[in-house]
Parts: sequence; C-alpha cells; structure tokens
Amino acid sequence: MQSTLLSKLHVGIIMDGNGRWATARGLTRLEGHHAGVEAIRRIIEAAPHQGIGTLTLYAFSSDNWRRPTAEVAGLMTLLRRYLANEVEMLARNGVRLSVIGRRDRLPDGLAQAIAAAEAETAGGETLALRIAIDYSARDAILHAAISLSGISHATRTDFARLVTGEPQPRDVDLVIRTSGEQRLSDFLLWESAYAELHFTERNWPDFDAQDLAVALASFHRRQRRFGGLTPHALEPAFGS
Ligand code: FPP
Repeated sequence: MQSTLLSKLHVGIIMDGNGRWATARGLTRLEGHHAGVEAIRRIIEAAPHQGIGTLTLYAFSSDNWRRPTAEVAGLMTLLRRYLANEVEMLARNGVRLSVIGRRDRLPDGLAQAIAAAEAETAGGETLALRIAIDYSARDAILHAAISLSGISHATRTDFARLVTGEPQPRDVDLVIRTSGEQRLSDFLLWESAYAELHFTERNWPDFDAQDLAVALASFHRRQRRFGGLTPHALEPAFGS
C-alpha cells in the first residue's frame, strides 16, 4: 500500500439495511442490493476528500452463504458486474482495489475477475479500496495462527501481516454500521482493536457523502488514547 495512504484514516463500513430499504418500498431484496451499489459509488467518490486513505467495505460475509440461493446468486452476479463495469473508472480515479476473504468458494470465474481487477488498479494512490467477500475475521485470525504454529516468537506486526494479507497492515480507525444494528458481525476483529464505532439509523442505500461527513465529525470529536493517558490521532508505535 502507498505510504501516503497509510498516513490517512482507515474506515471500515458494514453496509447493512439493503433488504429493509427495499421491503419498505415494495421492492425485492436484490433491488435493495442494487441500490447499495449506488451508495458504494457515492462513498468511494467522497472518501478521499474526507481524509480517508483506506476504505474496507463488507460486501459478503462467510455467514452470508446461509441466505437463500437466489439472493446469494444475485449478490455474486452483482459483484461480477461491479468488477466488469467499474474497474476502469476506479483505475482512472486512482483507486487501488483489493479483495479480502476466501476465493476458493466463489462461483466460476469470479476469483479470476477479482485478480484482474486488482492488477488493473494496482497503481492507485488516491484510495485503497478493500472489499470483503466471503470474509470472516475469525477465519483470518485462525489461519494466521495456524500458519505460525511451531514458531516460538512473532511480533504483533508479523501476525497482523498474516491476518490482513497486507505487507504494511493498517489498523482500522473507524467502523461505521448502517441500519441501526450495533454489532461487528465478524468484521475486521483484529484490525479494529482500537477502532471508534459509529452506528447510524440510515439504511445503506440512503447513505451518502453527508452521512460519511457526520460519521467522521463524530470520530474527530473522540479522544483516542490507545490505553495510555495522552491523546493520539492514530495508533502510536507499540514495540511488538
Ligand atoms: C446487508 O444488508 C448487505 C449485504 C449482505 C450485502 C451488501 C452488498 C452490497 C451493498 C452490494 C454488492 C457489493 C458490491 C461491492 C458490488 P441486508 O441484506 O442484510 O439488509 P437487511 O438487514 O435489511 O435485510
């Protein structure tokens, strides 16, 4: 990840409420997810102007496989179309896309489309956009632990590299969850150890740049001490 992006905020968003947004309008749940993609476009455009260097969006959790087959298939089609339609625009705007989560259970061709999109946007320096697909933070931590078994010493940074898959792991500063739910649902558990949390009643398809600004204003009013007594904007170096 580019070092200039590392000095900016990392915001994670749990994009919740697509289904309720759709039901309230007499639409199908899938139409709610389509509207959710519009919100993604708005937030990607707004994020670099609001001090965000890394944006991680929770698009599909490993537990979402439990949803009806038609909804899962619809979401996978939406992801595939998103990659096909948006990658050129992302590359043009300096957005570096990466996908976190398992790739071995995705439908045919999606893992290849993801790899191609990552390669096409690899030079982006305006925003690191990470999309979590078939993602489980517990699984990420478990696999990092398994890959270290037999090793007697590892620093937190070593471990964070394994958990996040990033050569320069960046803790999450702020987690936003829409639709009034107040839980983390297996999202970025390691990286969010000192994250501030912001919950809003707004359903994801209605979330816009103004809502993002409200969340960030609330974040900037918080005093972050990382267990110490002195306020710090970002996590101070901690040894190991
Ligand atoms: C949660 O709302 C949302 C999801 C599980 C899917 C999020 C997906 C998108 C926003 C679109 C696809 C993403 C990309 C990157 C193309 P919910 O369905 O649980 O809503 P509910 O709680 O109201 O039922």
